[in-house]
Amino acid sequence: MILTVEPANSGLRGKITPPGDKSISHRALIFSSLAMGRSELSGLLESEDTLATMRACEQLGAVVERSPDRVFVTGTGGSFKPPSNGFLDMGNSGTAMRLLAGVLSGQDFDSTLSGDESLNKRPMQRIVVPLTQMGADISASPDGTPPLVIRACRGLHGIDYASPVASAQIKSCVLLAGLFATGTTRVEEPRLSRDHTERMLPIFGVKLPSPCSVEGGSRLKASRFAVPADISSAVFALAAAAMTPGSDVTVSRVGLNPTRSGFLRCLEAMGADVSITNQSAQSTEPVGDVRLLFNDSLKAIDVPESLVPDMIDELPLLMALAVTASGVTRIRGAAELRVKESDRIKVMAAGLRKLGVELQEYPDGIDVKGGKVSGGSVQSAGDHRCAMSFAVLGLVASEPVLVEEAEFIATSYPGFTDDMARLGATMQVVENL
Ligand code: S3P
Repeated sequence: MILTVEPANSGLRGKITPPGDKSISHRALIFSSLAMGRSELSGLLESEDTLATMRACEQLGAVVERSPDRVFVTGTGGSFKPPSNGFLDMGNSGTAMRLLAGVLSGQDFDSTLSGDESLNKRPMQRIVVPLTQMGADISASPDGTPPLVIRACRGLHGIDYASPVASAQIKSCVLLAGLFATGTTRVEEPRLSRDHTERMLPIFGVKLPSPCSVEGGSRLKASRFAVPADISSAVFALAAAAMTPGSDVTVSRVGLNPTRSGFLRCLEAMGADVSITNQSAQSTEPVGDVRLLFNDSLKAIDVPESLVPDMIDELPLLMALAVTASGVTRIRGAAELRVKESDRIKVMAAGLRKLGVELQEYPDGIDVKGGKVSGGSVQSAGDHRCAMSFAVLGLVASEPVLVEEAEFIATSYPGFTDDMARLGATMQVVENL
């Protein structure tokens, strides 16, 4: 599928509520599936990724009922039941695979986790290592990628794990396994990664003895949970407004967790006119409305490495935004981008070059020089966030931009083109020729 983006002939204007947060939705589904009782989830994202988690939870014994504005999950009361053929398909979702691998490592049955072409290339040793230290019998392919084969648990013990990478997927995987271990499991990381697991477990009845630790044997209880709108989806409308003259866009009810909002801090540092109103707390997460008023004064910045974990999924979009800022924007300390749904540095560099952008690629980042954007066809390499980043940049190109493999946008944001159209953008999906 190809997404054709027409250059905008006027500013984007209006207010949208982006879909539910993907990270939080995965966790809400997994936690409620493990819990005793029936949980009520609102605002849940229903995209390809979270539907993969939902199907897996059903195969593992949870009962999911969907109404137009709520999802009810009756949990398994502490441990899962074996899936009928022992096999679970995680689609494109690294979060689904890594978090469920933690839980399945503590179950008394065999299971195999696999995914699509992209997920089956992603590194899994990062979870195999700590889970094996805890006593799990888990193995990946010889090159460290899926499928993950997990054998029936013969007992796990808690560990103190110093993760070499700031990764919420590793942290959450180990903490979830820790619920089925003896003793205490603690995780330390080089920089704090998104902390949704730590914030949400107490809502589902699990007390954390210290900020990033769990006590073995803790059991989850059903809860009522409201998922905020996803900042990682909201940023596309905000970036589009920051680069398109005459824009005034508001995204409402968006999650503003500090471990996720690095992109907003970058927008401010670049000189964008960002304002936040209606701040409140929803379940465990801060939320608010974010307004962006175009002001024609974006300047390049050196992105502080300390901000990288807080905006890891927004860095492809920042590369696109940097094209519309004066000067050279520098991103470093972001080697993790090379092992996401695609090698995001390589895919963004190739696409931006095709659109006439001057840049320099580095092993752990990129320099992007502000300038003009030409039209043309770009490869998203099946990566939802790269596809949406190129689409947004197409609004300020001199000719239409065609984004290939745009069907993957449904991984996280199935309503992307509708929301952009609501704000005045012209984007059209066409089947491959
Ligand atoms: C996620 C953590 C991040 C992020 C991903 C979602 C999560 O991955 O990139 O989109 O929900 O825990 P890493 O843990 O690999 O950094």
